[in-house]
Amino acid sequence: MNLWYGDFQALHNVSLNVRHGQITSLIGPSGCGKTTLLRCFNRINERYGSVRTEGEIQVLGKNIYDADVSLIELRKSVGMVFQRPNPLPLSVYENIVFGLRLHNERSALRKADLDLAVESALTEVGLWNDLSGKLKKDAATLQLEQQQKLCIARLLPLKPEVILMDEPCSALDVEGTRAIEELMFRLQGRYTILIVTHNMAQARRASNECVFMLLGEVIEHRSTEDLFQSPQNPKTAEYLEGRFG
Ligand SMILES: Nc1ncnc2c1ncn2[C@@H]1O[C@H](COP(=O)(O)OP(=O)(O)O)[C@@H](O)[C@H]1O
Ligand SMILES: [Mg+2]
Repeated sequence: MNLWYGDFQALHNVSLNVRHGQITSLIGPSGCGKTTLLRCFNRINERYGSVRTEGEIQVLGKNIYDADVSLIELRKSVGMVFQRPNPLPLSVYENIVFGLRLHNERSALRKADLDLAVESALTEVGLWNDLSGKLKKDAATLQLEQQQKLCIARLLPLKPEVILMDEPCSALDVEGTRAIEELMFRLQGRYTILIVTHNMAQARRASNECVFMLLGEVIEHRSTEDLFQSPQNPKTAEYLEGRFG
């Protein structure tokens, strides 16, 4: 994959095989293209001005850059979570059923099904016990950690294959960070998770595989354990030792 913002080439011949059902982290110094690469997986880069791409990305055997791909369908199967929790200005319940309402005829949605979707999504992210009695509460009044979990929960009724997370803990404290990392482990296996993080310790704790990027290129992609214990590229080693970035 190559990607340009106007004349500036932000990704250079990036080739990556992301393992299904695993957590893969993208690391590297600020500006190396982590967010850009992440956004290629749901083609949300195309919202940000004059972006041009070359190449393809296969998700479950289908090139998502084919002309016949529906961006709406793509973004159902490839969900995204952002740095700051961004729940909709609606109740907890409405946040979770929002995707279903968007993608289905009103008449096709029975209340019982919506209720079930809310319960199972909140259960999956570990919020059901805390929030089952507060479904009408405005999502903005929740703690930040709960808001971020809710932002993950609201993707689940659409049955995503891939969940993209761009520094999902950067607005959270240590406790919140730990909680989101635990949640990632619970979701692993059922979903393929790609996470951008500038936090090396987080990449090491919370991912199975790790991709080190520099100046728009993938320098090294290996199991997290191997990458941290015996990096093969000297640039990876220098970065991990904190010599730059
Ligand atoms: N919308 C944009 N328009 C122009 N340049 C951009 C845009 N977004 C990012 N860039 C540039 O692309 C490079 C990679 O940025 P980014 O993917 O955000 O890096 P990272 O997430 O690793 O910090 C940077 O040089 C950045 O300035
Ligand atoms: Mg970024």
